[in-house]
Amino acid sequence: MASPKITVIGLGYLGATHAAAMAELGFEVLGLDVVPEKIRKLEQGVAPMFEPGLEELLRKHVAGVEGSSGRLRFTDSWQEIGEFGDVHFVCVNTPQKHGEYACDMSYVDSAMDSLAPHLTRPALVVGKSTVPVGSAERLAARIAAAAPAGEDAELAWNPEFLREGFAVRDTLHPDRIVVGVRGPRAEELLRQVYATPVAEGSPFLVADYPTAELVKTSANSFLATKISFINAMAEVCEAAGGDVVKLAEAIGHDDRIGRKFLRAGIGFGGGCLPKDIRAFMARAGELGASEALSFLREVDSINMRRRAQMVEMTREAVGGALLGKRIAVLGATFKPDSDDVRDSPALNVAGQLHLQGAQVTVYDPKGMANARAIFPTLGYADTAVDAVRGADVVLHLTEWNEFKELDPAALAEVAATPHILDGRNTLDPALWRKANWTFRALGRPTA
Ligand code: UDX
Repeated sequence: MASPKITVIGLGYLGATHAAAMAELGFEVLGLDVVPEKIRKLEQGVAPMFEPGLEELLRKHVAGVEGSSGRLRFTDSWQEIGEFGDVHFVCVNTPQKHGEYACDMSYVDSAMDSLAPHLTRPALVVGKSTVPVGSAERLAARIAAAAPAGEDAELAWNPEFLREGFAVRDTLHPDRIVVGVRGPRAEELLRQVYATPVAEGSPFLVADYPTAELVKTSANSFLATKISFINAMAEVCEAAGGDVVKLAEAIGHDDRIGRKFLRAGIGFGGGCLPKDIRAFMARAGELGASEALSFLREVDSINMRRRAQMVEMTREAVGGALLGKRIAVLGATFKPDSDDVRDSPALNVAGQLHLQGAQVTVYDPKGMANARAIFPTLGYADTAVDAVRGADVVLHLTEWNEFKELDPAALAEVAATPHILDGRNTLDPALWRKANWTFRALGRPTA
């Protein structure tokens, strides 16, 4: 069978990475986004966000970039997309609805509605967005009804598990490929698309629509639960005088528990875990299964309590009143190696302190522009040292490697008071204490 031509609709974190990865796997790829600015950047081989390795991959394949394979092109025309593609990956956003837990499906619905009238020959539409279970069933009927090709315009669901910061690696070498399909043609096409990673060892799992949709939401719920579990243990350690870092290491050596995702701190954020567990709860409610997921409410509230505890620790560190106190915040993104500040615990804590009257100065290696855009009233510094200069207390809130390499002795010279609170448990307490810092961390003893 000839190599299928691929389109990618929605060129954010997921779509831009997927489009570049498909070109890397050897396919001809046409990408579409409704934001012209994004297309303009991508056409020059510029990534729309910071993601390690993505720009290199784009430059390797975007048509028009010198020396590229030319396999990756972009358009804003739905007609061109319809005419070009055999397999259409839909990678648009499914954010949380304003003021509700439920997932906002309007971008997915509108992408499918724009695409379907241009499906004039047999084609496979592949949803990759994280959606409420039941969406694929609904969308399959909607596409078949609106496409000139009718039932020959098929739908598959192929959830994406990429992590920001590792998006390129996770897309090219996924630890599993899950496809929800109704028939053999869709499965066969997707086996062709993913032949290389499968040959390199990625398991290829075929399921029905609801199972494929649920794999994504249940995986994210499990990860969120693991983080909140260890953060609950941090709360108990704080009450009992234990050390959650030691505890996590010790329980993690049990293979059944595992060491990953047991890092206690100010908790999870980002564009996925928080909104996905909420949308999952909302959907379970609609299905009459809310009791099954009632534990996720607890997972969410433990997570939010850790941010509050960080604010409380800061208040104690500056003697009880935040008004007028100078606070240095190291980190603004929701995790390192990303410029993403969506639902960032770091920025949320910085914002709470600012709203309570503290003078907050933030430094982040990659997230400054995005942080400024959503929180323009915070102070921003160009370097970690500048942020710490004159500070009454320093908060370590995103675990960038750059912060691990800071020189505590040099920073002690510029801070007003050498007092640091580690909200991520990745700094070495002994090193900071040796340089005369008062060092405190979530879930750990004071000295
Ligand atoms: C997540 C899932 O990991 C990924 O599979 C899915 O496709 C999208 O959502 P991502 O949002 O990139 O990926 O971030 P992730 O690495 O999962 O971290 C999420 C949050 O949890 C971050 O804020 C991180 O700091 C926090 N975290 C992670 C902890 O607090 N402790 C840990 O041990 C691990």
